[in-house]
Amino acid sequence: MGLGKIYTIVNQKGGVGKTTTAINLGSYLGFYGQRVLIVDIDPQANATSCLGIDKNTIQGGTYDVLIGAQPILTQILHNPRFKLSLLPASPALAGAEIELIEMENRGNRLHQVLDPIRNRYDYILVDCPPSLGLLTLNGLVAAQDGLLIPVQCEYLALEGLGQLTQTINRVKSSLFPNLSIRGVILTMYDGRTNLAADVASEVRGAFDSLVFETMIPRSIRLAEAPSYGMPISVFEPGSSGARAYRALAKELMAKDNVQVPIIQEAM
Ligand SMILES: Nc1ncnc2c1ncn2[C@@H]1O[C@H](COP(=O)(O)OP(=O)(O)OP(=O)(O)O)[C@@H](O)[C@H]1O
Ligand SMILES: [Mg+2]
Repeated sequence: MGLGKIYTIVNQKGGVGKTTTAINLGSYLGFYGQRVLIVDIDPQANATSCLGIDKNTIQGGTYDVLIGAQPILTQILHNPRFKLSLLPASPALAGAEIELIEMENRGNRLHQVLDPIRNRYDYILVDCPPSLGLLTLNGLVAAQDGLLIPVQCEYLALEGLGQLTQTINRVKSSLFPNLSIRGVILTMYDGRTNLAADVASEVRGAFDSLVFETMIPRSIRLAEAPSYGMPISVFEPGSSGARAYRALAKELMAKDNVQVPIIQEAM
């Protein structure tokens, strides 16, 4: 039986590193022997594309699962090379937002489909779109073990986090009282600039021990890997971005009291 952790990666701000974190953290958790499922609930289907799958070839995926047209296990793709599985998104998912409005338990759909299968996995990571709409609401309600919030180390990094916190509080008082923040991840950190250091300390001031020690550096390799359809663990395991996501995976496992196996690490 798996650990069954479900984490949702969320920030309604676009381009902060949600998808990059989902696939690379996911792949390194897999590298450390964890059974990992990535759930793509973004109609942009970036997590799906970043893993080398043409989103236009996806017939069902998350969309069919959310509207109840297909059982989830029939829609999951397995990639042993990347050490993870994926519930892929297709552009059709944009329509789910509209269809879900009509449905009963519209905020609970993802939770209802993930809960029965969670123990097949150690980690389920849900990659949200950059909005606070119905799909993200489903991501929040499904996050049984909390939220992972990537924050880009740029000017106005904290902008918008107030709105996210408000949404989290609303979900707590209506649908899911135990919703919590598992951790804040500083992304695209550029150690050469004072700005990045200032932003990092500002975020640490605001979120304190919730901020992961590991910071993800700005790395060209991380930006390139998706165009090859690979996670960084396979594309360039020796790069700074790879080291960072490997460290993040270890840090999360340690937080979860999972023993990190000793594996020979790429240089
Ligand atoms: N640490 C990094 N260093 C360099 N480039 C990065 C890094 N992290 C992400 N990127 C690049 O920045 C862009 C945005 O990243 P990503 O897609 O992960 O963000 P996102 O929050 O998922 O975006 P969206 O809100 O559109 O879903 C991508 O082109 C990605 O390759
Ligand atoms: Mg994304």
